[in-house]
Amino acid sequence: MTLLVVGASGYLGGEVCRQAVAAGRRVVGTYHANRVELPGVEVRRLDVTDRSAVRTLVAAVRPTTVVSTPYRYDDWTVTADGAAHVAYAAAEIGARLVHLSSDALHAGRPEPYADDDVPTPVFAYGAAKAAAETAVRAIDPGAALVRTSLIVGDERSAQIRLCLDALAGRAALFTDEVRCPVDVTDLAAAVLEVAAGDHAGLLNVAGPEGVSRAGLGLLVARRFGLDPAGLRTATSAGSGLVRPVEVRLDISRAASLLNTRLRGVTELLTR
Ligand SMILES: NC(=O)c1ccc[n+]([C@@H]2O[C@H](COP(=O)([O-])OP(=O)(O)OC[C@H]3O[C@@H](n4cnc5c(N)ncnc54)[C@H](OP(=O)(O)O)[C@@H]3O)[C@@H](O)[C@H]2O)c1
Repeated sequence: MTLLVVGASGYLGGEVCRQAVAAGRRVVGTYHANRVELPGVEVRRLDVTDRSAVRTLVAAVRPTTVVSTPYRYDDWTVTADGAAHVAYAAAEIGARLVHLSSDALHAGRPEPYADDDVPTPVFAYGAAKAAAETAVRAIDPGAALVRTSLIVGDERSAQIRLCLDALAGRAALFTDEVRCPVDVTDLAAAVLEVAAGDHAGLLNVAGPEGVSRAGLGLLVARRFGLDPAGLRTATSAGSGLVRPVEVRLDISRAASLLNTRLRGVTELLTR
């Protein structure tokens, strides 16, 4: 019963590995540029843009389950083609696949998005995540595709680091961009639960609470004992960037399917 975590050097991938090892699983984890040491994990290097390398590694490891996390914000070949290569290799050996997707494939609107809402990407990263989903679903209709939102936790979270930078005046947080942050430990537990089940297709797995990026910055200030007056803010509308503005994910299906409780961002950062 081997678990292969593609992207074990990433924030979510590392936490999935830690929880799976703690549960007694054999875990093989991959890195690309940043080699990691994770206790109990057999670490291998893999470039997901290399289709034949992905097939070779998966055929050698023969995992029962694959969790696929890799992406690069500005690299279609990693985010979209790489996801397809992993799905193809997993399907070839009949492994259960959980693919990590994103709320960034939605255009943004005031109403929450349901699990099955079709992608309406407005920027390149969202389009690449949408293309990845299409490929994964076509290659393996039995795969689970987990759409998630800002992954928060400790300072290793890129989202938390961005907030700390904005509190130090080195970045600005949008007041009009809303997301549903999720704790990395909750998300990893949910991913492992989804992996152990038979859910096929899309599933929103995020926090239950929407917050603006600037609002997240204020919660981070409270959590880290920093002066909120230092927070630099801006508006997405005024930035000249084309980005999804309000994106909330309806997580009612995940809440009924999973035992893992997905905590809201206020609870997470004010405990
Ligand atoms: N972070 C968020 O707030 C957020 C929000 C919504 C959705 N998501 C989705 O959640 C998933 C995990 O996000 P994360 O924040 O944990 O990511 P992360 O920390 O940035 O990790 C990305 C992983 O992708 C790997 N990778 C990059 N290029 C690769 C390549 N060519 N071949 C193989 N692996 C490669 C990286 O390996 P190296 O570092 O070793 O190169 C790393 O392990 C992603 O699919 C992302 O789209 C994240």
